[in-house]
Amino acid sequence: MKYFSASEKETEEIAFRLAQNAAPGTVFLLDGELGAGKTAFVRGLARALAPEDFVSSPTFAVVNEYRSGAVPLFHFDLYRLGGEGELFDIGFAEYLSGGGILAVEWPEIAERCVREYGNPVVRVRFVKTGDAERELEVD
Ligand SMILES: Nc1ncnc2c1ncn2[C@@H]1O[C@H](COP(=O)(O)OP(=O)(O)OP(=O)(O)O)[C@@H](O)[C@H]1O
Ligand SMILES: [Mg+2]
Repeated sequence: MKYFSASEKETEEIAFRLAQNAAPGTVFLLDGELGAGKTAFVRGLARALAPEDFVSSPTFAVVNEYRSGAVPLFHFDLYRLGGEGELFDIGFAEYLSGGGILAVEWPEIAERCVREYGNPVVRVRFVKTGDAERELEVD
């Protein structure tokens, strides 16, 4: 499915709707360049799943946890992670089997682990097509 977003708010709205149809355990793999809108998308997921929480960029924390809703949301930014060993160190596999929903920015080094655990995956590819325009290809 392809979505067109003309603002940060619209990207949040697309994510909000996708979150409402996502089963516990679902992993959102978010692909796209710097500033493509991945964190904005996670803000929309969090509005649906954890309305009490505020979403910031987890670039320095690697993972932020939003637990105010019925299904927890775990937000990863793996940009600065060195490799699969560090993924193990942060307990990524435990999150996969924890019954929450995961959103992963810069997901490449996590993909093998996600496949092994067999979680349902929603891949979102962000393409910047203008200052405020984004295409989101979801499958
Ligand atoms: N349609 C849009 N959807 C999302 N963000 C948009 C859109 N139009 C403009 N923006 C702007 O693009 C930026 C997106 O930032 P965001 O932090 O979500 O990107 P990111 O993909 O998480 O980048 P990074 O890889 O650095 O974490 C914000 O400054 C936002 O205001
Ligand atoms: Mg980000």
